[in-house]
Amino acid sequence: MILGVNIDHIAVLREARKINDPDPVEALGICKRAGADQITIHLREDRRHIHDNDVVKIIQQSALPINLECSINSDIIDIVCALKPYRVTLVPEKREEVTTEGGLDLFKYEMMIKKAIIKLRKAEIKISLFVDPNHDIITKSASFDIDMVELHTGSFANIYAMLYSSLPYSHHSIKELEISRTELEKKLEYSLTQLIDNSLLATNLNLIVAAGHGLNYQNVELIKTISNIKELNIGQSIIARSVFTGLENAIKEIKKIIN
Ligand code: PXP
Repeated sequence: MILGVNIDHIAVLREARKINDPDPVEALGICKRAGADQITIHLREDRRHIHDNDVVKIIQQSALPINLECSINSDIIDIVCALKPYRVTLVPEKREEVTTEGGLDLFKYEMMIKKAIIKLRKAEIKISLFVDPNHDIITKSASFDIDMVELHTGSFANIYAMLYSSLPYSHHSIKELEISRTELEKKLEYSLTQLIDNSLLATNLNLIVAAGHGLNYQNVELIKTISNIKELNIGQSIIARSVFTGLENAIKEIKKIIN
């Protein structure tokens, strides 16, 4: 299983003070040493964590391939094409969201996505689409000139958290939502089935399949068993654990679990 370590949260910590520490560039060597296969970063339109000059330095200095997430906004696409990362993952982006919510709407934004893809192809950048694990979306994905899809595991992770974590889901406890454990277990099974079926569908449509969002040291045990998922992009849980164990140990630990 390929592990992409999303290092955005190092920049989140830096931006809490708007200084130059911790520097995400410093993570590159540690990620490589710990056995990560790829670095993932998100250049958001509002530049709330990763900045343009971070991307420049990270691309220049990383021994690992860079998977750069960005929106389909044409100005961002032009910037990204000039930066030339190994791969771009197109994601939906809303200014007010805390993190990426849901996959790209391939039907609503078809023309914008096509325009972005034409530019990225010209720049010889590999292309992935961040999409929901849904039959119609995956079928539609294959109509674009792309290399792979990344399946959004947010829904699976939220249900898992409601079932097995003491943390409430979306600020609502199970009790408030009036959902029984049995119902939640069924929902978890359904979300897993969606990931299994749609990773198979995407593979049959000649797309490489990645997955990501909300994955952690516990819930990834279920995801790693899905044979058609070849890559996981994980950020928040690794950086959170690294506060206590150090980044190298945090990556080694998740790497051991997924392989
Ligand atoms: N993959 C994509 C496309 C994302 O947008 C994100 C969040 O930036 C991740 C993976 C990583 O999610 P998390 O930080 O929840 O592990």
